[in-house]
Order: sequence, then structure tokens, then C-alpha cells
Amino acid sequence: MHVLIIGGTGLISTGIVTHLLARGAGVTMFNRGQRPGAIPAGVEVLHGDRNDVAALQRACGSRRWDAVIDMIGFTPAQAQADIDVFGGRCEQFIFCSTVCSYGVKVPPHVFVDESFPQEPISTYGKNKLLCEQLFLRAHAEQKFQVTIIRPSHTYGPGSPLIDNLEPAPVAWDRIERGLPVVCAGDGLGLWVSTHRDDVGKLFAYAALNPVTYGQCYNATRDQHLTWTSYYQAVASALGKPLELRYLPAPRIWSRDPARFGLLREITGFHGAYDSRKARRDVPQFACDIDFAAGAAQTLADSRRRNAWKPSADDKVYEQLVADAQG
Ligand SMILES: NC(=O)c1ccc[n+]([C@@H]2O[C@H](COP(=O)([O-])OP(=O)(O)OC[C@H]3O[C@@H](n4cnc5c(N)ncnc54)[C@H](OP(=O)(O)O)[C@@H]3O)[C@@H](O)[C@H]2O)c1
Repeated sequence: MHVLIIGGTGLISTGIVTHLLARGAGVTMFNRGQRPGAIPAGVEVLHGDRNDVAALQRACGSRRWDAVIDMIGFTPAQAQADIDVFGGRCEQFIFCSTVCSYGVKVPPHVFVDESFPQEPISTYGKNKLLCEQLFLRAHAEQKFQVTIIRPSHTYGPGSPLIDNLEPAPVAWDRIERGLPVVCAGDGLGLWVSTHRDDVGKLFAYAALNPVTYGQCYNATRDQHLTWTSYYQAVASALGKPLELRYLPAPRIWSRDPARFGLLREITGFHGAYDSRKARRDVPQFACDIDFAAGAAQTLADSRRRNAWKPSADDKVYEQLVADAQG
């Protein structure tokens, strides 16, 4: 099996490549070559910008792939370019979408599965849904077999560990310094975080698995957290006590709408998903990495890369803590 992955050196794509190699696949990556870090032995790298469609076409030449995985498609124009470049030139096309394509409604049985209506609220989710629709049409037109995979929060070395408020939080440094941190609402919102080495299995073992053709899959572990238990797990990973303060979400984002946009669009809502369909069709998709252990690994990696986010002199955050105390 030979797989082309658009991306390949990013957060989730690193996990995918690991599992593709473990299952004996030949792997080619297409990316701009801007990320530090060693490329795994045996992987072929093609360099270029995926937005330069002629360059993508040139790099791929007349080659045919068993599976192509697009990890960094965000717009319908990029999806259409994929269909134009790879239609008839691969057996299967796997598109990395997102659970943000569902939106923020909660089903009566709480956990969102693939049958739940897609009503995204963010531009990100709306565009991913448009991409999904284009790919599923290409599948119906037999351009290639399409598999759509929808991760929710996925974390691991190489990227910051989000909190309830921000993608690159100051909260972990504040916990280190023995200071209180803030969570929206009552901290009882549901959440699920899956390690990229677990999510990577679903992509890697969906490749050339005919059961997955024409299907969409959530890609989450099944251990859900509340936000309070998420902060507790991170504090225990840091070996520090947790002092958590609660504040209504609108009072947080009104302090700095751009900074706390994650809360407004995603983390301020329940994020609970049912991935049993993925585990049924791709039995290798076992999620073994405990969140506290994965958080410890991710934060240790941030320190190693000098990417630890300091919290000193953060007046906006200090004001939030004061608001929560008042
Ligand atoms: N993490 C989450 O919580 C989460 C949740 C839901 C869905 N997702 C989805 O996961 C996907 C992200 O995958 P990831 O974590 O592997 O990505 P990532 O960490 O953002 O890495 C991006 C990869 O793509 C390459 N790249 C970026 N821009 C490029 C360009 N213009 N042309 C060619 N290559 C480019 C990067 O290498 P160079 O910079 O060297 O080009 C790198 O290999 C997205 O589709 C996102 O919507 C993520």
C-alpha cells in the first residue's frame, strides 16, 4: 500500500504516519518543509504549497496512490483542487474534517454520532462541511472512494494543550505558580480529548479498508471529562494543587473577544461524541492513552521546545480571576 499524506509533519499527521509505517505502508508526505524535526526513515517527502495547485500537480507527476489523506483542507476551493488533482489517480481519498461540522446542539441521548444533523456555527465548521459535501459527491461520481474522519479535540507533543478558554493557555503556568485559574460556567460542560497517537490509528487503518468507503467517522476516545475534571487531570500531571474559579462564558469573552474565541465557538458548549462506528469498522482504533498521562507528556514537550506559555503580567487574565472572585 502506498499512501500520500498532504501535511504529514503536523500534530495529528505525525500520529498517522507512525501507524502507517507500523502497518508496512509506503508513505509520501507533501508539505512546505517548514517544520523542524526528523522525518521518519523510509518516508518520501515532496515539498510544495498545497494552495499552489500547479505545484501539487507537478510534484505528484503521473503517479497513482492507493490512498491520499488530506490533513489540511479547510476550504471548498482546496477540496475541489484535491478532486481535480487526485480524481481517478487514487483508490481512496481520506479527508480530515472536524466535529465542528455538527455545530453545538446536544442530541437527546447526549453523545453526537454520525447520524446527527450537521448545523455548524463557525466559519471553520461550515467550510469543513462544504468540503465534506464536495468529497461525498466525488465519491458518488466514482472519482475515488471517500472516507471522512472527524476528530474532536486532539492533542499531543508539538502543539499547546488547550484549556477551556484558549488554544495556547496561560493556565498551566498559573497552576505551576500556585495561582487560581478560570473555567467558564459551572465546569460541568462535557469534553473529550484524544491523543494524536490514538487518532492516528483510525486514519492509518481506515486506509484501503473497503468497509470505510463512502463513510463518515467521529474520531474520539470514549472517556469523557467535565471541564473541572480536565483541569484536575492537568494539575495532577503537573503535580500541583488546583484552584479553579468559575465565571459565566459571556463575561469571559467580553473581556477579549478575539483571545477567547475558542470558548465562544467550541469549548463553551458540550463536546461529547460517540465513535463506536469507527471502532466497529476499524477495530485497530483503540484509544489507550490516558488523558492525564498524555497531558504530562504534552506539557513536558512544551518545556523541551521552549514553547511553555508564561503567565506573568497577564492583566486580562488577572481581571478574569478578580471577576470570578467578585
Ligand atoms: N487538533 C485538533 O484538536 C483538531 C480537531 C478537529 C480537527 N482537526 C483537523 O486536523 C487537521 C490538522 O492536522 P495536523 O494536526 O496534522 O495539522 P498541523 O499540526 O496544523 O500540521 C499541518 C501540516 O501540514 C503542512 N502544511 C501546512 N500548510 C501547508 C501548505 N499550505 N501546503 C503544504 N503543506 C502544508 C505542515 O507542514 P509545513 O508547515 O512544513 O508545510 C504540516 O505537515 C485539520 O484538518 C484540522 O481541521 C484538528
